[in-house]
Amino acid sequence: MDADHPPFRLETDRLLLRPFAPSDHDAMLAIYSREDVVRYLYEGPHDEDEVRERLAVKVTQREIEGPGDILRLAVLLKANARVIGDLTLRWMPDEHRQAEIGFVVHPDFQGKGYTTEAARVLLRVAFDALGLHRVFGRTEARNEASARVMEKLGMRREAILLENEFVKDEWQSEIDYAILDREWKALPAKRRR
Ligand SMILES: CC(C)(COP(=O)(O)OP(=O)(O)OC[C@H]1O[C@@H](n2cnc3c(N)ncnc32)[C@H](O)[C@@H]1OP(=O)(O)O)[C@@H](O)C(=O)NCCC(=O)NCCS
Repeated sequence: MDADHPPFRLETDRLLLRPFAPSDHDAMLAIYSREDVVRYLYEGPHDEDEVRERLAVKVTQREIEGPGDILRLAVLLKANARVIGDLTLRWMPDEHRQAEIGFVVHPDFQGKGYTTEAARVLLRVAFDALGLHRVFGRTEARNEASARVMEKLGMRREAILLENEFVKDEWQSEIDYAILDREWKALPAKRRR
């Protein structure tokens, strides 16, 4: 089996990425119940029932084979199998071979490069396994950690959309990042593994 094809169970130096299971409830609650985590997400903080409902959907999003599919992966520390975050790769439902990435990591584990390490796997899946043309990410303009992750991934800042959405009782601005398949392939090998 090609390591980059479903069923997805992928490794990096420090991390294991795998589909979600119902037993990830407590780890997801520890993340999504926190105000500081959801500050720049569309929803949340989530209570136990909301986490359970969302996890029930995530558990089913374990394969990505065509437009409209969404892959969700739990991020675990290899050292102790602790679930510290989650990743999303969303193949857009059209013919343009584009996908959107998303990522969240528990604050206790932020700032250690885990998200960059894990999200690189998503780019590898998108370009090397699925043959997509462009991967993009969107972040609220004040979310500097998210922007920085995308820069470290080799993505380009393409746009800033001023006050394009009304979220959580305020106008929010969006910064868009993207990388093309040829840009991905031009990155040094160590930034692709
Ligand atoms: C965005 C997020 C996933 C990043 O996770 P992480 O594991 O800390 O990411 P990394 O460690 O790989 O990289 C973070 C980078 O942002 C930088 N950073 C963190 N906070 C920052 C801030 N307030 N201002 C500027 N840079 C910041 C870090 O220094 C690091 O860059 P460096 O390696 O050049 O020092 C994490 O902050 C998070 O879960 N946030 C809440 C959920 C969220 O907003 N998700 C993104 C939605 S678009």
